[in-house]
Amino acid sequence: MLAAVSARTAYLAAEGFAPELDEELGGVDTTHGRLLIVPGPPRPAAWAANVWLDPQEIAIASISDAAAKLRAIQRNWAVYAPRLYRRAMLIQEQLLKVSAKPLVFGTPAPAAPLGSWTLLDPGTVLAAPHCTSPFPNGEIQFVEDRSGPPSRAYLKLWEALTLIGRRPGPGAICLDLGSSPGGWSWALQQMGARVISVDKAPLAPEIARLPGIEHRQESAFALDPRTVGPADWLFSDVVCYPARLLTLVERWLAAGTCRNFVCTIKFQGPTDHETARRFAAIPGSQLRHLRHTKHELTWSKIG
Ligand SMILES: C[S@@+](CC[C@H](N)C(=O)[O-])C[C@H]1O[C@@H](n2cnc3c(N)ncnc32)[C@H](O)[C@@H]1O
Repeated sequence: MLAAVSARTAYLAAEGFAPELDEELGGVDTTHGRLLIVPGPPRPAAWAANVWLDPQEIAIASISDAAAKLRAIQRNWAVYAPRLYRRAMLIQEQLLKVSAKPLVFGTPAPAAPLGSWTLLDPGTVLAAPHCTSPFPNGEIQFVEDRSGPPSRAYLKLWEALTLIGRRPGPGAICLDLGSSPGGWSWALQQMGARVISVDKAPLAPEIARLPGIEHRQESAFALDPRTVGPADWLFSDVVCYPARLLTLVERWLAAGTCRNFVCTIKFQGPTDHETARRFAAIPGSQLRHLRHTKHELTWSKIG
């Protein structure tokens, strides 16, 4: 029996950030592990790794009955199993295997629809054939480069650009604020960009030597957009309070000299939801938590 549960949305919190998501959503109906089920249509949820659209409750008589009912809806399913793990895995084994192969950066995100399902209790599946992320439980994994970059920070840049679906092309002028030791500068240089790297600290020597990277050892907050000149992208991974980053971003937006922005908003102590909302309110922008980050959100605006 298939019972449509109308006007509900399920939000899967990024691992470790269910309280942030709960606060962002302003209270939830039901919590199932880090899956928060809320009445109403989907709304922006930066702390969600994946959003399950129109989840349906399905009564199941057995493991094979569950698998048959899921297969009848669509081909590709990712399981989320905070409870009843063994039973859930036995069902998942009877479904088409979803590729867990790490992505090579530059390859587009998978286009095939990927549903999500969970066992609410032994006789009830909650399933959403449509979700916002093409990756199982919103978790993107990359084929890593273990020799080029000086730190693992490049993974969050790769993740942000993959989810945005755009990246700097050859010759693009990129400002990389808070660039040291140089993971993002390395990644941008690999894309063929011309990088103006800015940090109070130096770059790792092997990154500073790369062609196409100019390092300015100064504060990102002292830069005047008018003297820097036009840029295609502004990236920021500066460690600072969110409100200070917002002031910097507003200055660059007002100058109108840069079209595309990708900036990490780092929270120290309690999450500053109010400043996060102000970032989200900037027209044409997106705010999301990345798998390769901890207590931070990534704000982007593509012109
Ligand atoms: C998380 S690290 C950046 C990592 C870098 N994206 C990478 O891929 O290697 C944050 C950086 O912000 C820098 N930072 C802090 N305050 C700054 C400021 N006022 N101006 C420029 N950089 C600053 C720190 O020196 C530090 O290198």
